[in-house]
Amino acid sequence: MKVLIIFGTRPEGIKFAPIIQRLMKTKEMDCILVNTGQHREILDQVLSLFSITPHYQLNIMKPNQTLEEITSEMIKKIGEVYEKENPDLILVLGDTVTTFTGAYTAFLHRIPVGHIEAGLRTFNMYSPFPEEIYRKLVTSLSSYHFAPTKKSKNNLLEEGIPESNIFVVGNPVIDALLDVTSRPYTFPSNIQKIIENNRRIILVTTHRRENFLKLEGIYLALKQLLVDFDDIEIIFPVHPNPNVRKQVQEHLLTDNINPRIHLIDPLDYECFSHLMKHSYLVITDSGGIQEEAPALNIPVLVVRESTERIEGVEARTLQLVGTDKEKILAATRKLLKNPSEHSKMARILNPYGDGTSAKQIVTLLKSLEKKI
Ligand code: UD1
Ligand code: UDP
Repeated sequence: MKVLIIFGTRPEGIKFAPIIQRLMKTKEMDCILVNTGQHREILDQVLSLFSITPHYQLNIMKPNQTLEEITSEMIKKIGEVYEKENPDLILVLGDTVTTFTGAYTAFLHRIPVGHIEAGLRTFNMYSPFPEEIYRKLVTSLSSYHFAPTKKSKNNLLEEGIPESNIFVVGNPVIDALLDVTSRPYTFPSNIQKIIENNRRIILVTTHRRENFLKLEGIYLALKQLLVDFDDIEIIFPVHPNPNVRKQVQEHLLTDNINPRIHLIDPLDYECFSHLMKHSYLVITDSGGIQEEAPALNIPVLVVRESTERIEGVEARTLQLVGTDKEKILAATRKLLKNPSEHSKMARILNPYGDGTSAKQIVTLLKSLEKKI
């Protein structure tokens, strides 16, 4: 069976890596890898960490492209690859523009789609934007749905997807995380120096489009925390999205910048994973980090208005705090001042799998071969 895997952003690369590594070793499967190039810089290091070399590099990213431009360019270039390769199955993952165009173009070519990380929902079409709608569209375009949890399976059942086509397999991000964090590791000197200051580390990331007008509240809260607590260091790897960079520049990179906030370039995945383990707390609007940090026993304050990772909220390892400065401050102060509140949240609870997701997916793909 010829399986074509399409990815383009950093999280798709990280989550697909364990599946690709396994598929590449499976004799029965001919596996073609397509990188749309949505995130060239930050994805390339992930691919090299997992020794993955795509067969196709579509290089679709140009500065200041609108989503409409990216979408049309992707459909055209992805279509050319599908035409040439004529695969039996396309695999897409998650909810990005690469995921959506990969699935939509497969439909135009009448090729079946398998969707990894299927069934996540916030039930708010604008949050996250545009991901919530991409997820729903990709569900309609897919024949096989690899859901991370029972909750995501139930979402799919409620939308009328037949149970026989839904497989609960965990999230392969846990496979990638366990692999990388079990490798011996030495931090680069800039990070090592911060760790040696022996202060509590707060790790921060922000990048969601629906948050672009709300970043000020998050960033002002960070500034205030540095004033209130002299035993914290904030490490903030800044996403390359120009909207994020501009606001970091405006609100945080001021003349009187506190030396205990470290605004740095995105970290490679190995460094970031090990740093999560060293952190007291994570403040983020990321999807993937909401799955990883609880698996590492690290509390997460989610600076979004809604989350599709409900399992972590119910287990109380994730707390949904929104983007209001005062609310973020109140939640963070509580965790910094009360070690018992912190340890209540820092429980090992990993609803997203046991590191065997890739194995389960590849076994299922082999069994699907007869159907396709
Ligand atoms: C994208 C996904 C989002 C996902 C996130 C993961 C869409 C619409 N958004 O958001 O779902 O959660 O990736 O990080 O698919 N840029 C670079 N170099 C890079 C990456 C980005 O320069 O390696 C800049 C480019 O100027 C690019 C901009 O960031 O135009 C935005 O990138 P884009 O992929 O559209 O959106 P993200 O915010 O990265
Ligand atoms: N990540 C990384 N370096 C960083 C920040 C994040 O390797 O500097 C990893 C993180 O561990 C997670 C993934 O990137 O696996 C999440 O990506 P992002 O937050 O950009 O996207 P999302 O998950 O929200 O789609």
